[in-house]
Amino acid sequence: MKSSLLLAATAAVIMSACSDNRPIVEASFDVIPQPQSIDTIAGRTGYIISRSTEIHYAPETSEMERHARFLQQYAEDILGYRIPIKAGIPTKTRSADSGILLKLEKGDAQSEAYDILVSSDQMWITSTGTAGIFYGIQTLRKALATAPITGNADGFRVSLPAVHITDAPRFAYRGMHLDVCRHFFPIDSVKTYIDMLALHNMNTFHWHLSDDQGWRIEIKQYPELTSIGSVRKGTMIGRDFSSNDSIPVSGYFTQEEAHEVVRYAAERHIQVIPEIEMPGHMQGALAAYPQLGCTGGPYDVIGWWGISDDVLCVGNPEVVKFCENILDEIMDIFPSKYIHIGGDECPKVRWEKCPKCQAKVRELGLQKDKQFSAEQKLQSWFTHQIDDYLTAHDHTAIGWDEILEGGISDNAVVMSWRGVEGAVEAAHQGHHSIMVPTSYFYFDYYQRRNREHEPLSIGGYVPIEKVYSFNPIPEALTDDEQKYIWGVQANIWTEYIHTFNHVQYMALPRMGALAEVQWCQPEQKDYTRFFANLGNLTHLYDIYSWRWSRQAYEEPMTDE
Ligand code: ACM
Ligand code: ZN
Repeated sequence: MKSSLLLAATAAVIMSACSDNRPIVEASFDVIPQPQSIDTIAGRTGYIISRSTEIHYAPETSEMERHARFLQQYAEDILGYRIPIKAGIPTKTRSADSGILLKLEKGDAQSEAYDILVSSDQMWITSTGTAGIFYGIQTLRKALATAPITGNADGFRVSLPAVHITDAPRFAYRGMHLDVCRHFFPIDSVKTYIDMLALHNMNTFHWHLSDDQGWRIEIKQYPELTSIGSVRKGTMIGRDFSSNDSIPVSGYFTQEEAHEVVRYAAERHIQVIPEIEMPGHMQGALAAYPQLGCTGGPYDVIGWWGISDDVLCVGNPEVVKFCENILDEIMDIFPSKYIHIGGDECPKVRWEKCPKCQAKVRELGLQKDKQFSAEQKLQSWFTHQIDDYLTAHDHTAIGWDEILEGGISDNAVVMSWRGVEGAVEAAHQGHHSIMVPTSYFYFDYYQRRNREHEPLSIGGYVPIEKVYSFNPIPEALTDDEQKYIWGVQANIWTEYIHTFNHVQYMALPRMGALAEVQWCQPEQKDYTRFFANLGNLTHLYDIYSWRWSRQAYEEPMTDE
């Protein structure tokens, strides 16, 4: 929680020599995620940000200028005034106060690591990568928000302590997922979601774009995916599967909008990984193209929460072509090397009875064995086709952990959601994986045991302490296998989440805990310290009017 007026009044109020004699309040680097090392420079005074502070950047590229503008905007959001930007780094002699200096150095241009050096006359943010500069800016932004500013922010200068910070992320993949199928959130909400990721030093937005309850991305070759597949006639009410509110739900992203999301995310060093589910969770598509199902339909975009038995008829040769054609357009829209192809929760009941699917089983000589049914192997065959296609187009498939069943294809990355076992098995087999186990990272699950005042959710219990406690490296892995754990993500499925405001409530501040799991080294992790710093982060949520849950304060985790 923000400190009170009392704190502001007792904060050091120092009159400075320069013309700006607004009171100075002291900020700290008590931010989330905690930087890897913060060394206090003994005996030195820190840097004071005031209206006369300038942001300088070098080299003078448009990308570095954009980063300077991000910092300018962030500072204004917190301080209420706009500090100027100047291209180039001033020479020391020109001015005693050189300002905030953003300097991209020669070296690994992909680096996410950065340094911050604060002294009385300047503050450096340096990195060899623009991503590193961006994360340095995020840390500074979060530090500014620790200042006990109350009332009119414009009335203050902010002092930062003399420190040397060196920082780098623990995991390369740091993601959040959003399901826009069960409920649709327009592009402005998606951009705000990306802003939320950026604040938490995350670099991947996993965008769940197709499902049984709605198809949400324009595919020019198959216009009915959106004209029919994005519209459901009504939705079950609450948990009552026999009900339907008869209120149509629709919405999809045009390719132009998707390009806009990709651009917006890339500016913030976030890759967008699109997910097109196959061969299950496809009833939105089947409603539009019923000839691609085993029974031929007709099918409706479904209005209840669950998994449809009607899936793509993989015995139909048109189906692989259909998926490839869709993926052609997806690869054109999304520059990400990784494309998520779903693969979870694909019932086999239709395939078991379908003449085309059974003919395919025979043609491929698929036999049931102790581990897998012939139909599981049929799904594995299908996934191999799609994986081969993506690989031939210089892309890599990501799939939910079911893609391990029946034999994983050569290149695929596993997203381990039914616990961590999928990740362990993937690592044993030399495949990369991303940790998203339900019991830690399903942010559609309840945050509190006491549900009386909570919005209706899908179930579960994932308080912030539980998120924080996750160890991404299972003990079952050898030192060599550990490198296959690519990173960590949380998911927000939106069956019971109708509004973006509710998405934020489920995400925040659990994203803060996730950010430390993704970014911090194990020895840095300390829930007590994290909890003490949480108010500095939620203060920023308040500045942006992002809704967040007070569970950490009001209802700490209980065992039962
Ligand atoms: C999933 O939650 N079905 C991946
Ligand atoms: Zn079939």
